[in-house]
Amino acid sequence: MKITVLIGDITKLQVDAIVNAANCSLLGGGGVDGAIHRGAGPGLLAECREIGGCRTGEAVITKAYCLPAKHVVHTPGPVWNGGNRGEPELLRSCYLNCLRLAEETKLQTIAFPAISTGVYGYPLLEASRIAVETATGWEKSFPGEAIFVAFSSEAENIYKKLAEEISTK
Ligand code: APR
Repeated sequence: MKITVLIGDITKLQVDAIVNAANCSLLGGGGVDGAIHRGAGPGLLAECREIGGCRTGEAVITKAYCLPAKHVVHTPGPVWNGGNRGEPELLRSCYLNCLRLAEETKLQTIAFPAISTGVYGYPLLEASRIAVETATGWEKSFPGEAIFVAFSSEAENIYKKLAEEISTK
């Protein structure tokens, strides 16, 4: 799998799927969740209502409606509680379940925001390490491309450094 890092607004990407850092209700919120729902329009909320919710660490796929992407993969990340309440495992399962869905749906490109590192308070470096390690270790031959979308230059630098460090292991 190819890994790309870019800085920008995930809602503008014309990719097969963008990942939404959602909450378990799937009924929208602030941050990237708010931006995705604003960009997609009311159809996304209607489809999410039908799904009825999603557990932390799991992932569901919907259409993307007015967004340039083809699909949205919604995954509620863990709220940071110091790191000893299963947060790393839950965050890892967010990335794994999104990649599984991408493979099942035969997507070629999937773009991730830095799940849980905003409102949910997950420290950026630790969260980015989990993201990049999970993607590079994706044991299946997911032939596609995982794009890590940073929303700040700090996040961009962290992702790039980790991608280099992990790929040369
Ligand atoms: N494009 C890319 N990244 C973005 C964008 C955007 N348009 N907007 C925000 N981000 C980044 C933030 O800078 C942060 O690094 O996405 C990361 C995740 O932050 P949040 O959106 O706050 O998500 P999270 O920390 O997972 O909290 C989820 O917040 O918005 C609510 O409904 C959501 O309850 C859920 C909670």
